[in-house]
Amino acid sequence: MGAGAQRKAARSSTVSAHRADRRRKCCDSLLKRISFSAAVATAGFLFVLGVCFLHLPDPLDSAETRAVTLLIWTHPFGRYRRLPDCLALHQIEKCTLTDDWSAYLEADAVIIHHREVASGTVFLPPEPRPGAQKWIWMNYESPAHTPGLGRFDGVFNLTLSYRTDSDIFLPYGYLVPIRHTTRRNRFAQPLHAPSRSQLLRPRLLAWVISNWSESHARVAFYHQLRQYVKVDVFGRAGHPIPEDNGSGSVVRMLGQYQFYLALENSQHTDYITEKLWNAVRAGSIPVVLGPSRQNYERFMPPEAFIHVDDFPTVRALARYLLRLRRDPVRLRRHLDWRGGYSLHQPAFWTEHYCTACRAVRRNQGRTEVVRDLKQWFHS
Ligand SMILES: *[C@@H]1O[C@H](CO)[C@@H](O)[C@H](O)[C@H]1NC(C)=O
Ligand SMILES: *[C@@H]1O[C@H](CO)[C@@H](O)[C@H](O)[C@H]1NC(C)=O
Ligand SMILES: *[C@@H]1O[C@H](CO)[C@@H](O)[C@H](O)[C@H]1NC(C)=O
Repeated sequence: MGAGAQRKAARSSTVSAHRADRRRKCCDSLLKRISFSAAVATAGFLFVLGVCFLHLPDPLDSAETRAVTLLIWTHPFGRYRRLPDCLALHQIEKCTLTDDWSAYLEADAVIIHHREVASGTVFLPPEPRPGAQKWIWMNYESPAHTPGLGRFDGVFNLTLSYRTDSDIFLPYGYLVPIRHTTRRNRFAQPLHAPSRSQLLRPRLLAWVISNWSESHARVAFYHQLRQYVKVDVFGRAGHPIPEDNGSGSVVRMLGQYQFYLALENSQHTDYITEKLWNAVRAGSIPVVLGPSRQNYERFMPPEAFIHVDDFPTVRALARYLLRLRRDPVRLRRHLDWRGGYSLHQPAFWTEHYCTACRAVRRNQGRTEVVRDLKQWFHS
């Protein structure tokens, strides 16, 4: 847990203290099982959490598994998507997903995506809510792009977000040590350390940027960096992205590049998005601007990325990138870790719904209230 998260834990009610405790217990046992792996020990925190929520077998026999109905209050950003079959996709049993509001009274939980209720496009479900029903707050934007939080203190029962200290935690992506890749995470894609001939790539450095704003730290950083190295810019402000038929085309394009600028639109705890994971998938070494190095190390081995804070100046960073291209031994150090991992990038939003459904079953019978949503999310 980061300092912010710890402060939050110290401040908040016993309800959330118990919550954190439960999570720790679940993960401790897992950690014991996998701590013999040194690679995991350095960066193990997140892997453990991710694995904990997604890939442990359900505690009950399937015969005893209680059915759960999960109501999806709005399709995120108003974009309709067919709801998944959680059994077929994720081997999660007896989980009914519906977007039909007439199921409200029977629903064990309701997933409420922040944007639509904050903007007033859609009202919250009616009160009083059915006795044991849980309202789940779901949000994948950073705090800077999450307006209207103040109205929701004490409204929700569980949080579902990219933050490691969410009640239901699902990041934009995470690494799974190869030896723990199981049937349940068959979506994880094995990464590979490059062969000798694959080590040097034809192009130096790429950046994909869709929302160009001079007020963003990342744009200020780019203006400086381009004085020292060539940056190929893609997106609205640069070259067109190769026809975007799924993230596959971006990844293919990045496959040409040695380095990729994974610069987040704003800097917040655990806010590490698909920008990073697309680079990892493509085998480009990510140069990151986002939360602190320490925070990134919850998600990746320390040598797997280059952090802008690692250097006293942007010029020194640029020099390092150029130097790496002439120093295969050092370059390899940033890539060899890949041989030990698979990458899992959860699909929006099917995996989020199925993960929530399972979490609701695990939390059945407990009363939980998210009292300080705004303060927590900004911490
Ligand atoms: C683009 O960035 C600006 C400035 O931070 C922000 O106000 C706007 O919401 C962003 N747009 C999108 C689509 O993210
Ligand atoms: C996606 O784009 C790639 C390269 O541009 C192309 O080879 C592939 O056929 C496209 N796939 C679909 C489904 O259109
Ligand atoms: C859910 O939150 C509401 C509002 O704070 C609270 O009244 C209710 O008891 C909570 N329910 C559960 C099952 O946690």
